[in-house]
Amino acid sequence: MQRNTKLYETVAALMASGKGILAADESDGTAGKRLAMVRLENTPENRQDFRELLFTAPDIEKYLSGVIMFDSSIRNETDDGVLFADVLTAKGIVPGIKVDRGTRALQGFKDEEITQGLDDLDKRFAEYYDLGARFAKWRMVVTIDEDKTPTYEAVRMNCVMMTRYAQLAQAAGIVPIVEPEVIHAGDHSLEKAELETTRTLQILFQTLQEYRVDLAGLILKSSMVLAGDRYQNQTSAEEVAQATLRTFHMSVPHETGGIVFLSGGQSPKRATENLNAIAKLGAQPWPITYSFSRAIEEPFLNAWAGKSENSQKAQEVLLETCKQNSLAAQGKL
Ligand code: G3H
Repeated sequence: MQRNTKLYETVAALMASGKGILAADESDGTAGKRLAMVRLENTPENRQDFRELLFTAPDIEKYLSGVIMFDSSIRNETDDGVLFADVLTAKGIVPGIKVDRGTRALQGFKDEEITQGLDDLDKRFAEYYDLGARFAKWRMVVTIDEDKTPTYEAVRMNCVMMTRYAQLAQAAGIVPIVEPEVIHAGDHSLEKAELETTRTLQILFQTLQEYRVDLAGLILKSSMVLAGDRYQNQTSAEEVAQATLRTFHMSVPHETGGIVFLSGGQSPKRATENLNAIAKLGAQPWPITYSFSRAIEEPFLNAWAGKSENSQKAQEVLLETCKQNSLAAQGKL
């Protein structure tokens, strides 16, 4: 296996203790949903204002090691004409890029989806590297519906494509984040979520190893193991923490560079509490931290409300949210 020490340096920077990763990588369409929360139109100018406020917030580098962007935002500039990636790099924050192109229906497999985006990915990685990206993200989705989904075939096909992405990223000097998102929406139990998350991660890591991806130069982005949001018996943070770590111990090889969590539509408060409960269970074979989108952006958006007079307050709220999550990632809340 070809080893690239630059990848390990990026992993070490991203997984630095007391820091996490902001996922600000919404597609232009999804960014519109965020802006709609504050009754702003989904225009390029409003998307720029939103991201510029996030990335230029004073002191965020104390708590953020990396920021994931979307294709249009890594090409975007501040009002002063500085590329967002350069703003982040100057703060010591590693710029990242989402490279999958979303999901489509998987023919023959009702309610299951396949992630697309492999076409020309080698060329896209070369360009993103030149734009400053040193890590990337590819997301697949796993939906739990009783015994119908997920199927082995859908998970396996997604894992093969994710593995090809990881190979291409590493060849380009870019750390791949692999994100198999087990969807929180549903009426499944915690036990069912644990079973399906474990199975998915086992298939993913088996495939990554078969195709000789260097796990030390890769980061897993995982869901926390949660009962479905419509399940009648919601569980405590301690139960979530136990189930999540049992899952990882059954499926994630110890040499893997690190594990980060998505928030998955949990409230910001709950995502932070669950992260804190996981960290309280003590040191694990992998560094673990957060890579939230909604759980970080929602409090910021509420404080901003799309008004320039609220900009400073919103940036202060962002800083406080990142601080609380960084403390939670160390079990210090
Ligand atoms: O792909 C999803 C994002 O990277 C994480 O988003 O924290 O809102 O689930 P979330």
